[in-house]
Amino acid sequence: MSLKEGYADDVVKGFMTWSIIWGLVAVLVGVLISFQLVFPQLNFPPYLTYGRLRPIHTNAAIFGWGIGSFMALFFYITQRLTKTPLWSPGLARFQLYLFNVVIALAAVTLALGMNRSKEYAELEWPVALLVVILWVIFSANIIMTIVRRKEEQLYISLWYILATLVGVAVLYLVNNAVIPVSLFKSYSAYAGANDANVQWWYGHNAVAMVLTTPPLAIFYYFLPKSTGVPIYSHRMGIIAFWSLIFMYLWTGAHHLLWTPVPDWVQTLAMAFSIMLIAPSWAAVFNGYFSMNGQWHQMRDNYLVKFLIFGITFYGLQTLQGPSQAVRTFSAFIHYTDWVPGHVHMGALGWVSLVIFAGFYYLVPRLYGREIYSVTLVNLHFWLAVIGQLIYSISMWVAGVQQAAMLHASNPDGTLHYSFMETFVEMYPYWHARAGAGVIYLISLLVFIYNMVKTVTSGKPTQLTASAASTNA
Ligand code: HEM
Ligand code: HEM
Repeated sequence: MSLKEGYADDVVKGFMTWSIIWGLVAVLVGVLISFQLVFPQLNFPPYLTYGRLRPIHTNAAIFGWGIGSFMALFFYITQRLTKTPLWSPGLARFQLYLFNVVIALAAVTLALGMNRSKEYAELEWPVALLVVILWVIFSANIIMTIVRRKEEQLYISLWYILATLVGVAVLYLVNNAVIPVSLFKSYSAYAGANDANVQWWYGHNAVAMVLTTPPLAIFYYFLPKSTGVPIYSHRMGIIAFWSLIFMYLWTGAHHLLWTPVPDWVQTLAMAFSIMLIAPSWAAVFNGYFSMNGQWHQMRDNYLVKFLIFGITFYGLQTLQGPSQAVRTFSAFIHYTDWVPGHVHMGALGWVSLVIFAGFYYLVPRLYGREIYSVTLVNLHFWLAVIGQLIYSISMWVAGVQQAAMLHASNPDGTLHYSFMETFVEMYPYWHARAGAGVIYLISLLVFIYNMVKTVTSGKPTQLTASAASTNA
């Protein structure tokens, strides 16, 4: 605890530092697996093969970088919006240790080949149990802080934070119901099509509750903070919030179109996915309308640039996603590289840009130092955006070509291309993706260098955390 308000900002700093470290690991592994696809000799069996490193990449990215950053930013935001110090700073410090233990255990067990074979739910039951404890501790701290709040109104960000806490808990518990057969092996409590349905109900709502509601909480808090003008419509934000939560829960089966899952379940998922455009774009419009008369800040204020680019990629993502959920389009792009293109526009363009904005806002306030170099901030921004665009665009083009080749047939109905022929055609695109990964990695190193220099030798500023909190 530091300041006169008693806000627990040491844990915010701790989570920020560790999430950046895990983010670096995630991107390094992402770059490595991209190179492994083009240079198979970079696979070192048994531990460092593509099959084992891919889940390490996704877990480090989503849980280490994503959730670690959200923990930092939620602690910061909740204390300011409730005008109340964290309920238990001691518990939060324990949470930081447990968080790092869990992510490290995840990396080690996945490298050893312990894997439940469910995407984003790979961790075997002992590690999954630790995740549950971690989440309960985190949720209790935030919820108790909100319960004891001195500010009566719950600003929109707090609604998104609460949804994240409840949503992740429900999803994780249901999809992790397993029957353990040993310390390192368990079987799902569900079978066949039911298992698939539960898995993708979880999988897509992980997109909702980890890659959508937390960045929205952050966006809604930091946009007005950065521009200095309030959000365009709090009411629109709340209506969009409830519709988003209601609609997301029905969309999971859009990952299972053309499978043995009942047809009506697929159609339901398709319909709700399309309806999701409305609440998603309500947030985009709320962001854009909040910029009325403030668009010049896109040039003058780098925080705004990160946030507005971020919400724009969110807007594009939530148009592309619903179109992928339509049966005919899904038949074309599913099982192709189009999908990683979609994923990384969201992960790099939306989620990561918004987190970067949050951290650039926090560091001067928490450490009392001005950002070391604004030039480096801009370099970071453009390299990140260029890397992300090359990644996504190359994968979309690859996906369309791959889909066309996989579908091409001869007059007698046989396939025109063998699978291997379609595979070989992917090489130029995979080279482009590896290059994009290197650009993104450089952007991240620029960010880290700038952060370290800010903390160690940035000019002292008047903007302390307590000063920031009085504007909360
Ligand atoms: C309206 C909102 C959205 C809809 C309807 C939607 C729809 C879809 C669909 C249909 C797929 C499956 C593609 C396939 O395999 O054929 C997919 C995959 C995915 N989407 Fe989205 N999307 C949306 C927003 C987002 C956002 C904001 C993110 C954030 C990063 C995101 C991340 C992902 C991820 C990670 C996958 C890959 C899942 C996997 O197969 O492992 N989506 N999305
Ligand atoms: C620029 C650095 C990155 C590179 C080079 C990279 C590379 C990759 C590669 C090669 C894959 C496997 C694609 C496949 O299965 O065909 C992948 C999957 C994935 N990555 Fe990344 N990644 C990067 C950053 C990130 C970040 C920062 C996040 C999240 C915040 C992320 C989230 C994911 C997810 C969710 C998947 C699974 C996608 C799916 O199943 O369709 N990645 N990444």
